[in-house]
Amino acid sequence: MASFPQVRLRRLRHNQALRSLVKETQVNSKDFIYPLFVVPGSRVKEEIPSMPGIFHNSVDLLPREVEEIARLGIQAVLLFGIPDSKDEFGSSAYRADGVVQKAIRSIKQAVPELLVATDVCLCEYTTHGHCGVVVDGEIDNDRTLELLAKIAVSHAEAGADIVAPSDMMDGRVKAIRHALDEAEFSFIPILSYTAKYASSFYGPFREATGCTPQFGNRLSYQMDPSNWREALREVEQDIAEGADIVMVKPALPYLDVIRSIRNTFNHPLAAYNVSGEFAMVKAAAARGWLDERQAVLEVLTAIKRAGADIIITYHAKDAASWLDNTPFLH
Ligand code: PBG
Repeated sequence: MASFPQVRLRRLRHNQALRSLVKETQVNSKDFIYPLFVVPGSRVKEEIPSMPGIFHNSVDLLPREVEEIARLGIQAVLLFGIPDSKDEFGSSAYRADGVVQKAIRSIKQAVPELLVATDVCLCEYTTHGHCGVVVDGEIDNDRTLELLAKIAVSHAEAGADIVAPSDMMDGRVKAIRHALDEAEFSFIPILSYTAKYASSFYGPFREATGCTPQFGNRLSYQMDPSNWREALREVEQDIAEGADIVMVKPALPYLDVIRSIRNTFNHPLAAYNVSGEFAMVKAAAARGWLDERQAVLEVLTAIKRAGADIIITYHAKDAASWLDNTPFLH
């Protein structure tokens, strides 16, 4: 094998064009899904304190927002709803005139080509803030399935292109697939939050959506951060149940899990660069401790390099504008 001085790895790092030529990982604005938080009311655009640059939007302001998103070259959004009323069973999650259902219609009317994915979960809609039905202080898996299926169908009826269950109940992909097929939505794909960890990095999101559990925690349904083999079992199950796209969440602390899944399975793989990961970069950049643009592009490249095809990220708009403007000479 050749070695130094015949081999000089620095040769291909000599200038920007050479580096571009041998670049192994390209991040593209087409890789992104941009999360949007929708609230009741009108003319509401309120910044989420722990997520600078990310807003609560009322439905009437969505058309302008999604036109900007599409102009930036981002082709998909992921909707989260903050309802005006909560109850024990999260029934406002599947109302035809619920906040997410209205948002879907408004977006599809404004920019029909934009893909609308929806978060399918109960926690923003339940008084107790858990992702499933609570029976005697426990999260009841099987009773939750029917509700999740109802939510998914109501999103499809409103015009959603993709449904994304984030609850981590066993069997939800199967239940949702069955319900969608029964309702003649066999063409609607399921993006499953397959390996969703019980993570501290959801803090800003929970504040933004008011979905902090009112008792206990999510350890009985979300995964233990220690486990990667179990993630492969989750993927096996979700694929067997009919998931079209699988997901790892959060992204940065779980790059090894992304890589293991990529090496083992052939399904499209998404990674969710979650609120706490976003907040860390934003907070450090605001103090001048990091160069935000470089840090964000490095984070997104790392997630893609680990094996993700799709990145759900709050940085999407910024990153899309930076990527498109990257000059050839610099
Ligand atoms: C709800 C849900 C959560 C996130 C997405 N869907 C929070 C949680 O499970 O507690 C987190 C997203 C983020 O932090 O950006 N099931």
